[in-house]
Amino acid sequence: MDRQVTEKLRVVILFGGRSGEHDVSLASATSVLNALDVNRFAPLPVYLDQHGNWFPGTSPSDAARGDTVSSDSTIAACDLLNDPFRWLQNQADVVFPVLHGTYGEDGTMQGLLEILGLPYVGPGVAASAVAMDKAIFKQLMEAHGLPVLPWQLVTAKQLDAEVDQVIDQLEAKLAYPLFTKPANLGSSVGISRCEDRSDLLAGLKEARRYDLRVVVEQGIRPRELEIAILGNDDPQASVVGEIRPQRSFYDYTAKYLSGDSELLIPAPLDARTARDSQELAIAAFRAIDGVGMGRVDLFLDATDDRLYVNEINTIPGFTEISMFPKLWNASGIGYRELVTQLIDLGLERARQTQTLTRTYRALVAE
Ligand SMILES: Nc1ncnc2c1ncn2[C@@H]1O[C@H](COP(=O)(O)OP(=O)(O)OP(=O)(O)O)[C@@H](O)[C@H]1O
Ligand SMILES: [Mg+2]
Repeated sequence: MDRQVTEKLRVVILFGGRSGEHDVSLASATSVLNALDVNRFAPLPVYLDQHGNWFPGTSPSDAARGDTVSSDSTIAACDLLNDPFRWLQNQADVVFPVLHGTYGEDGTMQGLLEILGLPYVGPGVAASAVAMDKAIFKQLMEAHGLPVLPWQLVTAKQLDAEVDQVIDQLEAKLAYPLFTKPANLGSSVGISRCEDRSDLLAGLKEARRYDLRVVVEQGIRPRELEIAILGNDDPQASVVGEIRPQRSFYDYTAKYLSGDSELLIPAPLDARTARDSQELAIAAFRAIDGVGMGRVDLFLDATDDRLYVNEINTIPGFTEISMFPKLWNASGIGYRELVTQLIDLGLERARQTQTLTRTYRALVAE
């Protein structure tokens, strides 16, 4: 390698992964790799297949073709296959996990990168885990006085033992339509809209297939607003965007398959609602201790103009047509600049945490 190349920051792009959003990750990683500023960064793609194997130097297009043999001779594939973690430590200056969902966005990968001492893009372990868990997320929003729709947590144990009583209690507290959701899964998988008692029974059973905890939530007719957040200590909000799904709700088909949902950027809102949405998005991001990036999804109840926090995606979609880069583009930060800022924010965060005292022994010695 010539000197110029070695002086560049080596950015490992992790993509693929074991979640249902594997294919979305391939599309996101393609866009990130295309946008990476090669004057400053040397990209190193690493593909994670659906079984948990790691493949260095496999590009998203190789992965899509099923070709996982690295064509890059500078990468010792066997090292990585035998000991991917040591390999990562040696090869990466910073890691950009472009992984959505379970084992990528939920704090587990972030934990691994923390243990390896590697700087990475996006929120840390706790923020990632909290954002993935719809129940803990709602509890945290409530603790911060931030608005969420009325909801109730139901456990598998309750469902298996006393489903009729559970449904009685839900009906006493919430009014149809209701949404049933597995607590810890994304991409609208396992989510149902329930109009009546028999729907609710079916919805609870469906969600329980995916998780031992089920969130039951008051249904409204929302306008769906999304705000992109960027920053560490002083997170900034993008302009507000709106999604108008063509289907009855923004389900997996609407998100990834049909592509017919309408994106409005900026959302047609009065100035005050737009500002309130941005402030709420930043408050929610701060509440989970978010750093780097996040896409905050809000519901606006069209009947009374009230805003609710729905969820935060800590590794939002990064394809050319994804909301996160589009919102920043509309806010004056183009795709390339966005990726550069995200990497710099990850490095900044790592510099800050490296100065912290981590051991009890060190405390005693001081
Ligand atoms: N309480 C509700 N009232 C009306 N519509 C809802 C409600 N909850 C969810 N929806 C609809 O279902 C969609 C998916 O729900 P939600 O965003 O909670 O889960 P998710 O999409 O699985 O999570 P992720 O966005 O991380 O993949 C929403 O975008 C919205 O269209
Ligand atoms: Mg969602």
